[in-house]
Amino acid sequence: MLIDPAGRKFSYLRLSITDVCNFKCVYCLPDGYQCDHDREFLSLNEISNTISAFAHHGITKLRITGGEPTLRKDFIDVIRVAKDTPGITKIAATTNGFSMHKHINDWVDAGLNAINVSIDTLDPRMFNTITGHDKFNTVMKGIDAALESGIESVKINSVLMKQYNGQELDTFLAYLKHRPVTMRFIELMQTNDNKAFFDKNHVSGQSIKARLRAAGWQPVIRSITDGPAQEFYHPDYQGRIGLIMPYSNDFCNTCNRLRVSSLGKLHLCLFSEQGISLREYMNENSNQALIDQLSRYIKTKKPTHLLHQGETGVTTNLSMLGG
Ligand code: GTP
Ligand code: 5AD
Ligand code: SF4
Repeated sequence: MLIDPAGRKFSYLRLSITDVCNFKCVYCLPDGYQCDHDREFLSLNEISNTISAFAHHGITKLRITGGEPTLRKDFIDVIRVAKDTPGITKIAATTNGFSMHKHINDWVDAGLNAINVSIDTLDPRMFNTITGHDKFNTVMKGIDAALESGIESVKINSVLMKQYNGQELDTFLAYLKHRPVTMRFIELMQTNDNKAFFDKNHVSGQSIKARLRAAGWQPVIRSITDGPAQEFYHPDYQGRIGLIMPYSNDFCNTCNRLRVSSLGKLHLCLFSEQGISLREYMNENSNQALIDQLSRYIKTKKPTHLLHQGETGVTTNLSMLGG
């Protein structure tokens, strides 16, 4: 088991398999993905060895992220490789949902257990404004297909932003009334690229929490290993709500996740230093060196990010690390 100096246990790996994204979300890649031809993303073999090394250390949950992970032609093979790794019991992916309506059943057949889809608005025109793409109906069709596919969990991620979708809380609640979907409201986070945008658009998660509590939403009791989101249920609603509030003081106390970037760097936190290259150990016949590096580096994880002080580390945007 990987345990850091603060005593936190890590059971969850978020593995980015590409930086490339086909959307242009205003808070993440407003100018679209800038192609850098020197980048060579992790191969399937490197991915397989990485997952095995983490599984050796007791990681049971894998989230495949990007950029947009489903843009990789071998996305389904990544799911299969994870499924075949002893110790991995839950495979999740985070997607913008643009191709889900076509492929979700194949992904589920390959072993995908959970999907989180980024949908910041239920208004098609606002969707276009936020993402730069006219794909609202396609993505919503994908959500319906996911709900019909038998997948264990469907979550929608939404970043509330004052000048865009800040008034849509009630619309989202109405959507949840009859759908077994968990909505995650994620506080807009400052990155190196979006400071001015952040200052104009950040909405406090505490204000959303107060509105939910006033409307009868009850906190779900979560165990210490469940991660930093706070969850809420309401007896009149099929759906649930999760709040991801990185600006709350105790957010990092329940951190249960580690990250590996699409270029093979270990990031001990979403907002941390350069990242530690693991790539030179990923192609060896034995995974022992990779396993040893993980035991070594976990001892250097810091207790919390420094977002409260406006410090964003190397994080230019979340597309580089998959959030
Ligand atoms: P589950 O695995 O379903 O519990 O959700 P998750 O929140 O871990 O996964 P998801 O990829 O849907 O995360 C949504 C977003 O929340 C991420 O893209 C980040 O923006 C944010 N987030 C998730 N984990 C962390 C974290 O450890 N720290 C911070 N600051 N933000 C996080
Ligand atoms: N702040 C909060 N969430 C962000 N995401 C991307 N950039 C940011 C940011 N600056 C979220 C997306 C998506 C997930 C992968 O990361 O909305 O749901
Ligand atoms: Fe963990 Fe860093 Fe996220 Fe805090 S911000 S919960 S330490 S990854």
